[in-house]
Amino acid sequence: MSGPAKTAALIPAAGLGTRLGQGPKAFLDLNGLTLLARSVTALAPHVDEVVVALPQGYALPENIRARAITGGATRQASVLALLRVTDAEVVLIHDAARPFLPPEVIAGVRRAAAETGAATAALSVADTLVRGQSQASPPLWGELTLREGLWAVQTPQGFRRELLLAAHLEAERDGIQATDDAGLVARLGLPVALVPGDARLFKVTTPGDLILARALAHLWDAEDAS
Ligand code: CTP
Ligand code: MG
Repeated sequence: MSGPAKTAALIPAAGLGTRLGQGPKAFLDLNGLTLLARSVTALAPHVDEVVVALPQGYALPENIRARAITGGATRQASVLALLRVTDAEVVLIHDAARPFLPPEVIAGVRRAAAETGAATAALSVADTLVRGQSQASPPLWGELTLREGLWAVQTPQGFRRELLLAAHLEAERDGIQATDDAGLVARLGLPVALVPGDARLFKVTTPGDLILARALAHLWDAEDAS
């Protein structure tokens, strides 16, 4: 009989926050807690260890209980570096830029990753989607994509570590750069389960997102306290 698989939460937090323009996003404050602190606190109860990839020259604040390494030049390089420093059998990859992480999403991704080998949180698309014709400014309405069956991919994403490591090494060999990990597994023809995510799991990317995140932090923290 083997015990439950050792599980690690791996948090890429080594980005520079260029689109937001306020330095690395992981260290920005939302109602008294940084984005990074929020992700670590949400994941820690569900896993055996938490490892964070930080930008070069940054240290983990003392109040954050995790292990830290220096990330790479791209998100993909940061995740690969994280995969190399854990011996966990199962890994949950979660962007520090998504600070509001409901426990049921973590549980759902873990469960689906154990069953399928790979799983991601994702939201069924509600908006009409259209490709902008980019020659014009503002762009014109181009090709329409039917939203039926479309999902917006979020994190956390869960994998058997060996599987994700193999997918990263294949991508590196093929010169593929992706913005998430599930896509690297899917391109090998392997199944990835789509687990219901949450609208509050949005990625803080632009100044408008930071305004939303600061407003939501008050509601989120009040609910936590009640
Ligand atoms: N990330 C990382 N290492 C990198 C680039 C990104 O660990 N070299 C992380 C970010 O810290 C973030 C997640 O990957 O948690 C998603 O990236 P993104 O939202 O693009 O963040 P940034 O790269 O920091 O932002 P920007 O692209 O605007 O510079
Ligand atoms: Mg980026």
